[in-house]
Amino acid sequence: MSTASSLEFRRSPIALAELPVVGAGELIPTVHGEWVDYANFDHGASTPALVSVAAAVERASLTYSSVHRGKGWNSRVSSALYEAAREEVASFVGAREGDQVVFTRNTTDSFNLLARALPRDTTVIVFETEHHATLLPWDARRTLRLPVPASVKDAEALLRTGLKETAAVKGPRLVVLNGASNVTGEYWPLERLVPIARAAGARVALDAAQLAPHRRLDLAALDVDWVAFSGHKLYAPYGAGVLAGRADWLDAAAPYLAGGGATQAVTPAGTRWQTGPARHEAGSPNVLGVVALAAACAALREHAGAVHAHEEALAQRLRDGLAAIPGVETYSIFGPAHDRAPVVTFTIDGLDSGLVSAALSAEHGIGVRDGKFCAHLLVDSLLEESGTDATTAVRVSAGLATTDEHVERLLAAVASLASGGPRAAYEHDAGHGWVVRDDPRDLTVTLPW
Ligand SMILES: Cc1ncc(COP(=O)(O)O)c(C=O)c1O
Repeated sequence: MSTASSLEFRRSPIALAELPVVGAGELIPTVHGEWVDYANFDHGASTPALVSVAAAVERASLTYSSVHRGKGWNSRVSSALYEAAREEVASFVGAREGDQVVFTRNTTDSFNLLARALPRDTTVIVFETEHHATLLPWDARRTLRLPVPASVKDAEALLRTGLKETAAVKGPRLVVLNGASNVTGEYWPLERLVPIARAAGARVALDAAQLAPHRRLDLAALDVDWVAFSGHKLYAPYGAGVLAGRADWLDAAAPYLAGGGATQAVTPAGTRWQTGPARHEAGSPNVLGVVALAAACAALREHAGAVHAHEEALAQRLRDGLAAIPGVETYSIFGPAHDRAPVVTFTIDGLDSGLVSAALSAEHGIGVRDGKFCAHLLVDSLLEESGTDATTAVRVSAGLATTDEHVERLLAAVASLASGGPRAAYEHDAGHGWVVRDDPRDLTVTLPW
């Protein structure tokens, strides 16, 4: 592999059979005086780094220097790595000829960039099920929100109706779809929805924040125009994200940030801006974050089969195990049997979700998330539909840091909470939510610097 920098690259094999993560096996204290292996069920929010990703960052740090305009040897190496990372990510997303890979901070940043790049008269069509990052960046006056569908067929019908309703509106249309729900983990039926958008002449942007860690992405095969995802949800928590896809609107738009790196020439008469990814990457780039992202993409691509097998087993056991516990309600958009990532959202009758997550953490060493997961419209709709009194829910999201023992511990802990409530005493505090009363643990954290 070589790049325009004239440096040649050699790839060291990723010889990791099971993709270990940094921090696996670290012991943490419970309120009952035990030390247990931290059971991370919060991958949907953010993942730990893969060991191979942290190692790549450490290696790249040895030659770290400024990129693009520096002429020193380390600048040449860092610049070459930065551009090689772009190629790696392009392969990861199955980029087509002419597609661009723009490095951003995260998915939120990517969709805000895309929103700014839309031609002025674009109409956006988006389901209310979406994460706020995908729901909110668009001009509200030109956005049609489709309700939460009741089934795959309903989603198709809603999209068809939305496209019909907007057919006479002047200007291009953009359909924004999600690859996998961050609330229910369900994979969206892209193979059914994208052709509907295409047949109506609309463009498609895909939120792959929850899809990329679990399933292969392929812009060409999916026939979508743009895809966005975050490094920190893909075992590369070093502050880089991606917007990849068609160049035309990106090149025609004003730069996302005005500043150095995005310009071709600045004269008293005005500024000539770059085209290509540099147009939207003004400022000094996050080289190590981008190296981390590329390393994660390479590792996940190489071990896609192992990741899939690990997660399929977890997803099945989590879904079946939680659904079988009396007093536990699990949630779904398309129906309980729908294919999904290892993510399950549930409530326990009569127990506040914040108390459930506090007790799972304090008493069992299990990290989960409670609330509405930045998808308020979807969570409100699912809770209302089910008739529960709960106003928030608990989400468990497994991944490469999750073991079979973690799953069994979680299921036993939820069953115990559902049947007898928490064992420790808790109090609610406005700043921190539910906390253990008179917590006996040493609550000081040693600063890592
Ligand atoms: C489906 C989905 N889209 C977008 C985002 C936003 O990602 P980020 O916070 O990395 O910008 C998230 C984050 O949870 C998500 O789950």
